[in-house]
Amino acid sequence: MAKINVIKTIAKSIFNARENEGLDPVLQLQKRLESYFGLRVFPVNSGRSAIYLVLKAAGIGPADEVIIQAYTCNAVPNPIIWSGATPIYVDIDAGTLNIDPKLVEAKITPKTKAIVVQHTFGRPGPLQELTEIAKRHDLYLIEDCAHALGATYNGKKLGTFGDAAILSFGREKVISSLAGGALIIKNENLIKNTINETAALKSLPLPRLTEEFVNFFTWRALLRRIYFNKTGYKFIKKLNDFDFFNVVISEKEKRGEQPTWYPAAMPPVLAQIALGEFNHLDEYNKNREKIAKFYFENIKNPAFRLLPEHEGIYLRFVVLHRDASRVFAEARKRRFWFSNWYNVPVYPKGVDEEKLGYQKGTCPNAERTAEQTLNLPNYLGMTMEEAGRVVEFVNKFE
Ligand SMILES: Cc1ncc(COP(=O)(O)O)c(C=O)c1O
Repeated sequence: MAKINVIKTIAKSIFNARENEGLDPVLQLQKRLESYFGLRVFPVNSGRSAIYLVLKAAGIGPADEVIIQAYTCNAVPNPIIWSGATPIYVDIDAGTLNIDPKLVEAKITPKTKAIVVQHTFGRPGPLQELTEIAKRHDLYLIEDCAHALGATYNGKKLGTFGDAAILSFGREKVISSLAGGALIIKNENLIKNTINETAALKSLPLPRLTEEFVNFFTWRALLRRIYFNKTGYKFIKKLNDFDFFNVVISEKEKRGEQPTWYPAAMPPVLAQIALGEFNHLDEYNKNREKIAKFYFENIKNPAFRLLPEHEGIYLRFVVLHRDASRVFAEARKRRFWFSNWYNVPVYPKGVDEEKLGYQKGTCPNAERTAEQTLNLPNYLGMTMEEAGRVVEFVNKFE
């Protein structure tokens, strides 16, 4: 059974770093990931930084366009905007939650320089079709593996198909070091540029690093306990308004602005945590898959639509319901950790869609699907008994 190991790993990395004495943890993480993927890897402080840096390495900037899917996180269009380029949204295939490859070519213009293929929640994107399109139009293909570490497509690791790929070790990702990410690079020209760029990265400012730890522990030790209490929830909301607790996405980013800490180097302490977490990668993904299989076998309420089973991993388990917000509210009332990735076409609610380059109505499948989206709980450490109670709640829901 998967356990939440991150606290143990943090403690170990702070108090017992002797295990790897003398070896820079960032370098160790790089080597571990390089041998895992068989490609060059560059750890950085987040997935957002990785996207930004890969665009820079490709010489993508003002007047260029980058194709992405709607039904995404603001962390994808934002680094494109920060680079000066424009994100061009393509609608999804509602059956896969990934970009619809049939709609991509219509969006290609002389300004297009790259396509980002997002493996949403661990489900492989349409790699075959996009590889052909990218080749035909001489575009870079960048895999967004923020949700897909450890996943395969036709038995081959995601992250090894495109010219480059990005990983995230942020909170609620496949493995988490609180914050962190990496670039995986196959294309030789991009490798040369990335070496120079990453060598010039500044360190993550100490106050920001401290904030990551303070927020993590505040959440685990205190806020999670009062979340389901009405007054407690209001208090958490207030903290969010002050941008204290809500550090995963800052208020600036909701408006498409670039915080000063993107991009930055991967802090050694976070690399140490990522290394510890990487040891549990298979265990975590197997546990998620076990819970997903249980849901597939046991959810019988026809009002909840399941997507087909798939190759890859189950970072999130999505069900669709016509009245998703009512289900969500009721589930939270009963203290079930339902979640809502992605209940809007550019997550989370409250981002300035226009500033992030999204025009309402342009991706109807993404919008409709987002409205109906719910994530059933499949957090690390979840027991089958808890999953059983979720199934009971879902099957009885009217
Ligand atoms: C699809 C996707 N890509 C990229 C990112 C960026 O990752 P990070 O949070 O490490 O910057 C995220 C983060 O939530 C994401 O969901």
